[in-house]
Amino acid sequence: ETAVYKEQYRPQYHFTPQEKWMNDPNGLVYHDGVYHLFYQYYPEDIVWGPMHWGHAVSKDMVHWQHKPIALYPDENGLIFSGSAVVDKNNTSGFGKDGKVPLVAVFTYHSMEGEKAGRKDFQTQGIAYSLDNGDSWVKYANNPVIGNSGIKDFRDPKVFWHEDGQQWIMALVAGDHAQFYSSKNLREWTYLSDFGKENGAHGGVWECPDLFPMKVAGSDEVKWVLLISINPGAPNGGSGTQYFVGDFDGQRFTTTQKDIKWLDWGTDNYAGVTYNNTPEDQRIFIGWMSNWDYARDTPTKKWRSAMTVPRSLELHQIHGDFVLKNYPLEAVDGLAEKVEGTIIAVGPNDKKQIGHAALNQSDISFETATDRLLLQFTNDKGDTLRMSYDRPNKEFLFDRTKSGLVDFQKDFAKGTHRMPLEHLPQDKVEIRMLMDWSSVEVFINKGQQVMTHQVFPKELYSKLTIINDTETSMELTHFKIEPIPSVW
Ligand code: FRU
Repeated sequence: ETAVYKEQYRPQYHFTPQEKWMNDPNGLVYHDGVYHLFYQYYPEDIVWGPMHWGHAVSKDMVHWQHKPIALYPDENGLIFSGSAVVDKNNTSGFGKDGKVPLVAVFTYHSMEGEKAGRKDFQTQGIAYSLDNGDSWVKYANNPVIGNSGIKDFRDPKVFWHEDGQQWIMALVAGDHAQFYSSKNLREWTYLSDFGKENGAHGGVWECPDLFPMKVAGSDEVKWVLLISINPGAPNGGSGTQYFVGDFDGQRFTTTQKDIKWLDWGTDNYAGVTYNNTPEDQRIFIGWMSNWDYARDTPTKKWRSAMTVPRSLELHQIHGDFVLKNYPLEAVDGLAEKVEGTIIAVGPNDKKQIGHAALNQSDISFETATDRLLLQFTNDKGDTLRMSYDRPNKEFLFDRTKSGLVDFQKDFAKGTHRMPLEHLPQDKVEIRMLMDWSSVEVFINKGQQVMTHQVFPKELYSKLTIINDTETSMELTHFKIEPIPSVW
């Protein structure tokens, strides 16, 4: 199981399936010391096809063990995205001999229904496991929620609502979210909907997630609703927006007027959070790709990876809510520790740093400069450019010459932009997690985030730090920490 993955572009510390196609993370749940990662999986090809739930387990969310496929299509349809819960009190009655059931809640997608031109081809089903996810039994009376003629009706996220002492489900219905409640995971009652008039609507809504979060530094609790949207993301294709508001057990409401994005890069989609982790932890994993070109990326044995697991925090900055997402400490734990140094660059000057592990490392520094450019290059002439610009409040990511880019027309259409709001007055931390085909950029501990795939013809070997201003600049605590392969 520790086959070393050395194919070109194979991530060295991000989760990938051993082979074939993967999309959304599903059924993220912690149980009995184990973090489960299920995922949309097509075991026959490296493009999307009839969906299964693949499965992997981990004790720390960075070292994963692959498991056999958990859910196969059946007579009700393909197995689309969904969630999983630990039914501690055996509300479902699926438990036996004191064994606590894990219950998966997912969307059935009927190919026949779709081909026949009907609109009701997506319904919700459940399955349970009494052996910690190794084997699954589908509920005999599936589907548990039928379809009254809504074309895109999917991606149930279920959680236990402590105050209401019942299960709550969020799912999407085309251009909005719907909420349901249940006492036993089998019978569901419609509660309310949200979103027809809120947020971004450039595409269909997908993969909702609803959870409470303490506002950092206070006792106030707000509810966060994640909604993936395809297309309509700020830099093209699919992306994830969020809403901060309140949930009273029936209804989600918000006074939010602006559109908020969890990640400004093009490659963080369909992300959701873990169920059943301790109260103060909210852990997120996203699919590191984009529906614009997911099926065209230049890998052969497998397709696509997950983001590193990220811890979410809700902050209130100048009256505005900001959902930070930042790598879990377990990711730091992977990296080889090195001492931080100071890098000083004079006006209109640059520093070049050659590093063997550049493309497989955790790079971080702090700076008070107004502006800086970063360039990653290799001997094949590939250049990945980033620029940080405090006065103009923007971070730019340019992968147009970063390596292989012409496998699909939308992959390198132009420079990607991220606005930088509410930066601290003094120093800002910039951190980059580099893997063989991805870059995750975190500004000020995850206050602004950009996740991207890149496919350099060979690994980047040089980092050039450019100061194009008239004043000297300093990067402090500068570190390039190599991350060993976890496979
Ligand atoms: C999101 C999505 C979900 C759906 C799944 C199908 O990427 O489109 O809405 O359940 O992928 O694989």
